[in-house]
Amino acid sequence: MKNMKVNNGILEIGGVSVTDLAEKCGTPLFVYDEAELDEKMMTFQKSFQSDIFQTQVIYASKAFTCKAMLTKLNGYGFGLDVVSGGELYLARESGFPMAEIYFHGNNKLPEELRMALELGCGTVIVDNLMECEELISLSKEMKKSVKVIIRVNPGITAHTHKYIITGDLDSKFGVTIHKETMILDMIKKCQENKYTVFQGFHVHIGSQIFDLAAFDAAIEVMVTYLKSMKEKHGVETKILDIGGGFGVRYTNEDEPREIQEVCQRIVKKCESELKKNQLTIEKLMIEPGRSMVAESGCTLYTVGYQKETPNKSYIFIDGGMTDNIRVALYQAKYDCDLANKMDAPKDKLYSVAGKCCESGDILVEGYPLPEAEMNDLLVMYSTGAYGYSMSNNYNRIGKPAVIFAKDGNARLVLKRETYKDQLRFESDEEVIV
Ligand code: LLP
Repeated sequence: MKNMKVNNGILEIGGVSVTDLAEKCGTPLFVYDEAELDEKMMTFQKSFQSDIFQTQVIYASKAFTCKAMLTKLNGYGFGLDVVSGGELYLARESGFPMAEIYFHGNNKLPEELRMALELGCGTVIVDNLMECEELISLSKEMKKSVKVIIRVNPGITAHTHKYIITGDLDSKFGVTIHKETMILDMIKKCQENKYTVFQGFHVHIGSQIFDLAAFDAAIEVMVTYLKSMKEKHGVETKILDIGGGFGVRYTNEDEPREIQEVCQRIVKKCESELKKNQLTIEKLMIEPGRSMVAESGCTLYTVGYQKETPNKSYIFIDGGMTDNIRVALYQAKYDCDLANKMDAPKDKLYSVAGKCCESGDILVEGYPLPEAEMNDLLVMYSTGAYGYSMSNNYNRIGKPAVIFAKDGNARLVLKRETYKDQLRFESDEEVIV
């Protein structure tokens, strides 16, 4: 977090003391450094530019979304990647321009496609032939136009430091690039229907990618592909969408490249590949999620009881896998501190465990912290992406509140879920069948 300071041993984020935040809003609490969020958005906007073609940054709303976030993104002129009727609905309720929405997903339900057409969603990123046919038939029935991008699987998978060409051809996403007849069939079907306007291709090669050579490889494969589609089949591609997946720093072991470098490298590589192949496109797009929000967000917890076992010293916190499933799911690593004892020596190794009825509900293991006491505040850094958005209600634990802090002020952007909120799903047991 960039705008973080320590004052009398107490952490301040965006000029607001975490003890004040915890007192006013309770914990667990997601806190975003709003100035850093703005800075990230600005950097994406400024760095992803070309003199040769148009560029657009599409934010992957799955990483973290709420009305305040969407208003901010819209202010920077970004597009939005949504993956469900729910994400689309929020965009609509936030007044996000529908023309700038890109609807993703491998199994968009017919009713979700219907909703997208009804609301005037700009582009559907079609994942497979059956979906393409469903979209075409709905667009005819509803007489609603939509732009279409086809998601292809380029046979490159990248994860963190490694990437493999002809990687996961069995991925559930996209049409494998080798299925030329099928892809041509999808394009032809879109072109024969006056309501579906074929625009180009999309690829997304993975998550938390540090090795920028993986994006070079994806661009090479895709531009070669565009050339062969044009020369062999007369297919003109207007849009190339390279997806997201740019790495972030969770702990000091992670060494991500600066956003500016990532953006400029993608643009330059695309410019040079197009030139080499004597091709042009109208627009290049990227879809960052994590890299826009992860490092600007943290989670505050209150320390409760402690327990010594033969090999571990546990401190228990008031959240856990309900607000951060990434540790249990991906063995994700995080850094943390006792936010009210920032200047104290860290001379004890603690395992920080959540309160869920699940042995795997541990957020960090053997981590150096100052001697902990009940009601200390624990801050876990870089939880801004896929934390709140993957939060769940296991054990009927409510979702945390979310705060944006900037210049000494904090505003509540998402309220804490109450016990009563959870009752809204209870039905009066009306007999249906
Ligand atoms: N575009 C597409 C088509 C995607 O599938 C994704 C992520 C993104 C963009 C954004 O990727 P990002 O820049 O955020 O890496 N829950 C996992 C991450 C799942 C990502 C799925 N797709 C996690 O917490 O690590």
